[in-house]
Amino acid sequence: MVKRKPIIAGNWKMNLGTVDEAVDLVRKLRPKIGSLKQVDVVLCPPYTVLAALAEILDRSRIMLGAQNMHWEPKGAHTGEISAGMLSGLCEYVIVGHSERRATGSVEETNAAVQKKLAAALEGGLTPILCVGESKSERDAGQTQSVIVEQVSVALGSLSAGDVQRCVLAYEPIWAIGTGAAASPVEANRVIALTIRGSIAKGWGEGLAQSVRVQYGGSVNPENIADFMAMPEIDGALVGGASLTPDFADLVLNAVGG
Ligand code: 13P
Repeated sequence: MVKRKPIIAGNWKMNLGTVDEAVDLVRKLRPKIGSLKQVDVVLCPPYTVLAALAEILDRSRIMLGAQNMHWEPKGAHTGEISAGMLSGLCEYVIVGHSERRATGSVEETNAAVQKKLAAALEGGLTPILCVGESKSERDAGQTQSVIVEQVSVALGSLSAGDVQRCVLAYEPIWAIGTGAAASPVEANRVIALTIRGSIAKGWGEGLAQSVRVQYGGSVNPENIADFMAMPEIDGALVGGASLTPDFADLVLNAVGG
């Protein structure tokens, strides 16, 4: 069996975007989870605090990520940010989060997500590609087809080496911010059959087994261990529960204390 290193990421969304509040939280997290070797810990704060956090995390194992990026390197894209602008500040970037896809913007389609992934990899960033179905898609039995489309279009024509560098996050939209997480068994099944299945179809079973896939949606310090116990789940993408010092407990619970 392939050994995949767990990865727990905190997606702060549009929270803790002032330097004071971001630094305050990170100063509390760092003594508890700043030197863990058995898990990759990534914080994805607003862009406004990346530089300040990069400085205070200089000699810590905690890594930083951005929450989005544009695929172009520069140009007339008001309000956007490029891989090149991020690469000195962070190592990861979330791509295709459902809250962005929900805007319906042409910059958030599966085809756009493909361009973002390629640009992130080209810029030396590790993308965290989010996929997942809405409640109505789930109710209509479309989970499999929606996710196969998201994965296959986004990974598109990437080389095997580039696919290997990606992290995927299965985030069922109905579980995000609702307090009603997917059951670990169901998440494990979607990740195994649909997400790894799609990767296997394009790049082979060996590669599908080596890519890290997180679960996201109402993960908290109490339920994280149940997700980590699943063989196909390699960590979590955490929203609300990453905004307080208790995120340290979540990370510690993920790796068994
Ligand atoms: P919650 O953990 O708040 O449900 O958010 C999940 C999420 O969207 C992470 O990207």
